[in-house]
Parts: sequence; structure tokens; C-alpha cells
Amino acid sequence: MAIAVLGGAGYIGSHTVYELIDRGFDVVVIDNLQTGHREAVHEKAIFYEGDIRDAKFLDEVFHKEKIEAVIHFAANSLVGESMTNPLKYYDNNVYGTKVLLESMVKNGINKIVFSSTAAVYGEPERIPILETDRTVPTNTYGETKLAMEKMFRWVDLAHGVKYVSLRYFNACGAHISGKIGEAHNPETHLIPLVLQVPLHKRECIKIFGEDYDTKDGTCVRDYIHVTDLADAHILAVKYLMDGNESNVFNLGNGVGFTVKEVIASAEKVTGEEISAQTDVRRAGDPAQLVASSEKAKSVLGWKPKFDDLDKIVETAWNWHKNARY
Ligand code: UFG
Repeated sequence: MAIAVLGGAGYIGSHTVYELIDRGFDVVVIDNLQTGHREAVHEKAIFYEGDIRDAKFLDEVFHKEKIEAVIHFAANSLVGESMTNPLKYYDNNVYGTKVLLESMVKNGINKIVFSSTAAVYGEPERIPILETDRTVPTNTYGETKLAMEKMFRWVDLAHGVKYVSLRYFNACGAHISGKIGEAHNPETHLIPLVLQVPLHKRECIKIFGEDYDTKDGTCVRDYIHVTDLADAHILAVKYLMDGNESNVFNLGNGVGFTVKEVIASAEKVTGEEISAQTDVRRAGDPAQLVASSEKAKSVLGWKPKFDDLDKIVETAWNWHKNARY
């Protein structure tokens, strides 16, 4: 029996495939390669190029391969783009998940672990954020992820498809081998953009707002290493295999860093001065997002290994210096 990883050529998906294969799982990757990279797919995984909205294609793969559980990363995830093109997000994220669930029910697959996001909370009511806190997304991306979470709940009640929804905070870093890492086009995430300065691909980093109510005026985020996220997916699959009920977990380190602290860390790691310019606030950015991940620690037994920002940035730097894609 294999684990099907949908979106396994993307950033977090490809890292999860590496960890699954390291632990002896058989892996089937499905990806339409619209934002994923063929080179990021582990050579030991079986690869199918196709779109989750294509019901016939999914049925064929699920019929041919013996799939025990699905890990679902196949979604669009750019907050800014989701505000200018909301229907793209409803189509790929919400409609795509509806087609996927139909095919799972039809083919008797009843376990799914899926990528949710801190964006489901919107402006947090308190820090650190608990899973039970209010969910009022401030962007379409978060709204579609929340709609997906709700769809899973009703489908579980009707058809017994058990799910684990993992709400990531700020995914970052790269595989320690340096073989795979973060590569978005266009890049919008802070750490890869900061590292483009010492790589001479960018003159300076723009800081989106220095007038927030935080210790240095810049936004605070909870940066969590991609391999720690990958570990959590495997624990979540095992949790479902053990016959547990559907559940939702935050995944973060529980420590917040400001934008300026991230830049300082990148200066330390690269040994280069990184020039920064103040810019206006980016629409929809909450001042602080920090997770309480106590539930994932106690229920799943999750223990993030990268709890030091410099170490996380070091893995990202190691990848970006020699990025293969
Ligand atoms: N930032 C800058 N300059 C930049 C890019 C980012 O100052 O050039 C700031 C942002 O304003 C923010 C912080 O750096 O305060 C982190 O920004 P990212 O774009 O790296 O990440 P976000 O916190 O916006 O987004 C992350 C995930 C999303 C998820 C969101 C939840 O990438 O998928 O958290 O709010 F939806």
C-alpha cells in the first residue's frame, strides 16, 4: 500500500515525499507541475503528471495504485494573487478538493492529511493562537482553505473519510541535503527574498511596514522548518492509520520573529550586509501570527527539530546558493 502525495513536486510536498521515502513508505506523487518542479520529485516515487480537477485521471490513478492514504498539498497558496484572482482559488482549491473527495469515496480511500494555513484565523484574537480560536480569514486564500476544512468535516460525517487538517504558520528552510528547497515563481516569501540580496539577484529587501505594534515595529511571524512540517504529516498519517478521529492541528515553533530579526539572521548566516528599505504595509498582513502547537505535540507526539532561526536560515541559504530549479 502506498501514500499518494498530491502536489508532491511543490515546496512542502517534495520535502514530505523525501521523509516518507526515508521511512520506507511507498509513494505515488500526483502533480500538474503548474507551480511544482519535476526535479523536486524523489527518484524513488512513482510520478503521475495530472490535475486533481480531472476526475477521470484521478480515478485511473486511484484504481491502478493501491493507496492507503492521501496527503493533499495540491493548491494555490499566494495570498496576494488570491485577492486579485479569487475564482482561481475557488476553482483549484475548493472545486479541486471536491473532485478529489469524490474520487476517494468512489475508490474506497478513507484517510487524508491536508495543508491548511494560519490564514484561516485572519486577525488573531490572541497570541499564541489555539486551534479553537475564531476563524475569520482576511484573504481569499485563507477562506478557500477554511472551506476545504469544512468540506472534509461533512464528508467525514457522510462517508467516513477521516482527515487531519494541518494549519501551518510560516514554512521555511530547505532539506539538509541541499537537493530540494523553496522555489516559487514569482517569489513573495520573506526568507528567499532576503537571501536574493547577498546572491546579487536583488538590490535590497523592502520591509512592509515599520509602524506595527511590535517590539521593532515590523511584523512578527512563527517560522517553522519545512522538514519539521514534513514530519508532522507522517505523524498525522500514522494517527489516522491507528484508527483515530478526524482532527485539526496548528504547526509552528511557538516563537515569533520580526522581519528585522529575520534580516539580521540572514546577515549572520551569509556574512553579508543586507540592505533594507522601509515600504508601506502590505494589505491583509496581521501584526503578529504565532502558533500554539501544544496540541500537535501532545496528540501526535510532534517535536520540531529546528527551533533556532539561524539554523533554519542556514538550510535555506545552503539551498539558494546552489539551487537546481
Ligand atoms: N515581508 C516583507 N517584505 C517582503 C516580503 C515579506 O517585509 O518582501 C514581510 C511580510 O509583510 C510579513 C513577513 O515578511 O510580515 C512574512 O511574509 P511572507 O510573505 O514570507 O509570509 P506571510 O506571513 O505573509 O504568509 C505566510 C504563508 C502563507 C499563509 C500566511 C498566513 O506564506 O501561505 O503565512 O497568514 F497564508
